[in-house]
Amino acid sequence: MFTLKPPAGLAALKVPKDNPLSEAKIELGKQLYFDARLSRDNTVSCASCHDPAKGWSNGEAVATGIDGQKGGRSAPTIINSAYQYFQFWDGRAAELEGQALGPIQNPIEMNMSLDELVAKLNAIEGYRKQFQDVFGAEVTSDGIAKAIASFERTVLSGDAPFDRFKAGDAKALSEAAERGRKVFFNKAQCSSCHTGANFTDGAFHNIGIGMDKEKPDEGRRTESKLEGDRGSFKTPTLREIARTAPYMHDGSLATLEEVVEYYDKGGTPNPQLDEAIFPLNLKEDEKRDLVTFLKEGLAGASYPDVKPPKLPE
Ligand code: HEC
Ligand code: HEC
Repeated sequence: MFTLKPPAGLAALKVPKDNPLSEAKIELGKQLYFDARLSRDNTVSCASCHDPAKGWSNGEAVATGIDGQKGGRSAPTIINSAYQYFQFWDGRAAELEGQALGPIQNPIEMNMSLDELVAKLNAIEGYRKQFQDVFGAEVTSDGIAKAIASFERTVLSGDAPFDRFKAGDAKALSEAAERGRKVFFNKAQCSSCHTGANFTDGAFHNIGIGMDKEKPDEGRRTESKLEGDRGSFKTPTLREIARTAPYMHDGSLATLEEVVEYYDKGGTPNPQLDEAIFPLNLKEDEKRDLVTFLKEGLAGASYPDVKPPKLPE
């Protein structure tokens, strides 16, 4: 059986019982992930919005899908999404399997019905053969979701200076990054939400982003229907954070310096603002060190720099 060994600092990976990993399945999922034929006009693949060269996000404030249509939210990184209890900013999917078919059918992302997609892929000899090998059946939407999810489970980042520091190497962080680490875990209390190996509590919080807009995104409330969840979004991972600007669900903060300024002023006041968001009164050198910790401390030794594979014909 194939087992995936996550980089140092990350937990063991949970894989759903009905979708065990195999090398052939991961390879198939990688092809599907990079294949623009999964979109109606063959122009958009998962990698268009979650591009390995751009931190597995897209470098834009909001995602651009088929026909240049823009969505309302930024594309989160795929890195370490295998560890998340919830997918999407509002948590509307749990497993990666449940997530993968969403963007394919979304009219402003890839705009393909599943029936059409299955027929399209079944007409490609190279896919038909691989689905037979991996699933013992023709192409199905279930198989597509399982293969893509399996590939995503391999997109991991760990073994960062922070992990080596935690493992006992006192010199792993530069002096500035080490000072920034202390700010992160103490004075600024970033770790009250960005906690654990993946720097997220897996929960939803209102930190005020976009709450001064005319019609703010309701975030988690659209799922839970709870008023207290208005303007709450999933705490994102901070691993490889230097690569995934711009930041936040609406891409409204361009740099990590801006992010730190935003938290320092105590976010945007609104009735649902989380109690862990308040003015921090950081000194200028503390802000600089905090940014250094985020940039240097959480950059993995081996970034998952996956190149587009050869696609089947
Ligand atoms: C047009 C751009 C676009 C395309 C194409 C796209 N995505 Fe996304 N993806 C997004 C956006 C935007 C979100 C966040 C949406 C939200 O939270 O409401 C997202 C969210 C996700 C998430 C959740 C990550 C998290 O941390 O919550 C995963 C996983 C994901 N996409 C995988 C995929 C896969 C697999 C494909 C291809 C089948 C794909 N995406 C195609 C833009 C895109
Ligand atoms: C109350 C919980 C909470 C605290 C405390 C908190 N964060 Fe966040 N963080 C979040 C949530 C939730 C988001 C996403 C918010 C959104 O997009 O609306 C986020 C987003 C971010 C992002 C953007 C990530 C991305 O991929 O776009 C960065 C960077 C970040 N936080 C760093 C920090 C730092 C540094 C601190 C300490 C100064 C901190 N956070 C404190 C919950 C928190």
